[in-house]
Formats: sequence, structure tokens, C-alpha cells
Amino acid sequence: MIITIDGPVATGKSTIAKKLAHEIGFIYFDTGAMYRGFTYGLIKHHIDSDDLPAIEEYLKKFQFEIRVKHGYRHYFVEGEDVTDTIRGPEVTARVSKISAIPMVRDKLVAIQRELSSGVNAIFEGRDTGSVVFPNAEIKIFLTGDAQTRALRRYKELKEKYPEKYSDLTLEKTIEEIKSRDEYDTNRKTSPLLKAADAYTIDTTNLTLEEIVILILEYKDTKPYLTAKIPPLNM
Ligand code: DC
Repeated sequence: MIITIDGPVATGKSTIAKKLAHEIGFIYFDTGAMYRGFTYGLIKHHIDSDDLPAIEEYLKKFQFEIRVKHGYRHYFVEGEDVTDTIRGPEVTARVSKISAIPMVRDKLVAIQRELSSGVNAIFEGRDTGSVVFPNAEIKIFLTGDAQTRALRRYKELKEKYPEKYSDLTLEKTIEEIKSRDEYDTNRKTSPLLKAADAYTIDTTNLTLEEIVILILEYKDTKPYLTAKIPPLNM
């Protein structure tokens, strides 16, 4: 079974997907981390965001891995642990533009589909219900007002990465959230789009626990396709 969770930045997608995966024993894939990892690789190799031939070359070499260390997921690009670096301002400033390049999406979408083969998984991102897995059994779309999302993101970044984001202000975060919403929604390739059959949850006034419960209740309304187990010969 595939569950997709999509929505704009700072709707709590990652935290919710992680929590839900833990509750129901599914594997969790953060597709944004892949776009961030790829963007990091370009920065590392000094490849400009407009240099399409060099980006195409790098796509052939790009190596991305997810490993679990002491119970926490770590992301690796070419063997380097980039878990924290990909959340930093340098990658964040470039990732929207890079993730809008069609050949980048084609390659990463292909990897995401490969990863889904034969597993119960939650995929979280922007287009996982609309483009990557149009036949997913359960599709969730999270929304929330920009101010509330900006405040969440601001607190999270200040708490997790105080040094990297020492200059960040709430006003700047609101501006960034609005401009990323605008870019992710209006780009030509695979814009942020709610699948017609997705269940929408407005997260503005809900806690993470409340959102997870709503998703679990929704999941219970869906028939679960279990493998047929032959009867025991007793
Ligand atoms: O969810 P996030 O902030 O880590 O995502 C980083 C960027 O990647 C964001 O600008 C949108 C893009 N993205 C995308 O285009 N498609 C996805 N499935 C996931 C993320």
C-alpha cells in the first residue's frame, strides 16, 4: 500500500509522515530530501543552476542513499552524510529552481517509483499523489495559512540549526514561505497540485497528533488490500 502526503512548505508533512509511518509500520520516504540532496551535489561540484548540460551529466552520476543510524535517518550524497547540510540556507535558496527542471524530476521520480516496489510506504512531497503515484490507495493533501506555517518553520529552524539561521527573522521567514508557495504552485513542471482524489486537511489550528488521528481515521475508511493467505491444513 502507498500513502502519499503532499502540501506546501511547513505544513508539518515530514513530521506527520514520520509519526504515521511509525504508528502503522510503513517505510517513510521524504522526496524533498532527494531534491535537496541533488541540489547539494550541484553546489559541491560548482555546477550552476542554469548549466543544463552539466546538470544532465551530474544526473548520471548522482548517488543518494538513506541509512538509519541509531534509529535516525541520515541522507548521504556520494557517501557524505548531508542530513543537516541539506536543510541549510544555501541548499534551501536553490532547491526550488533545481526541482523545477524537467530532467531532474524525471530522474528523481523514476527513483521514487523504484523505491516503492513491493513495500508499504508513505511518500511525502509536493507531487507524490498527483504525478509520482497517481494510483496510490491513500492520498493526503495538507494546507495551512502562510503566517502559521512561517511561525512553525521559524521556530523549527532556530531550534534545530541556531548557528546556520542566526540572521533569520520571522518577517523574512514569512516572505520566504510566500515566495516558495508562489514558485512551487506556478512552475510549469509538476507544480504543487492537489490530486482530485486527495483528502485535504487544513493544519492551521490542529496539533500534529490531531492530524495523525485524522489520517488514521481516514485510512480506516479505505479497504485494505491484504495478500491472500492460503488456509492452514490442520
Ligand atoms: O519539502 P522540502 O522543503 O524539503 O522540499 C524542498 C524543495 O523540493 C521544495 O522547493 C519543493 C521541492 N520538491 C518538489 O519539487 N517535489 C517534491 N516531491 C518534493 C519537494
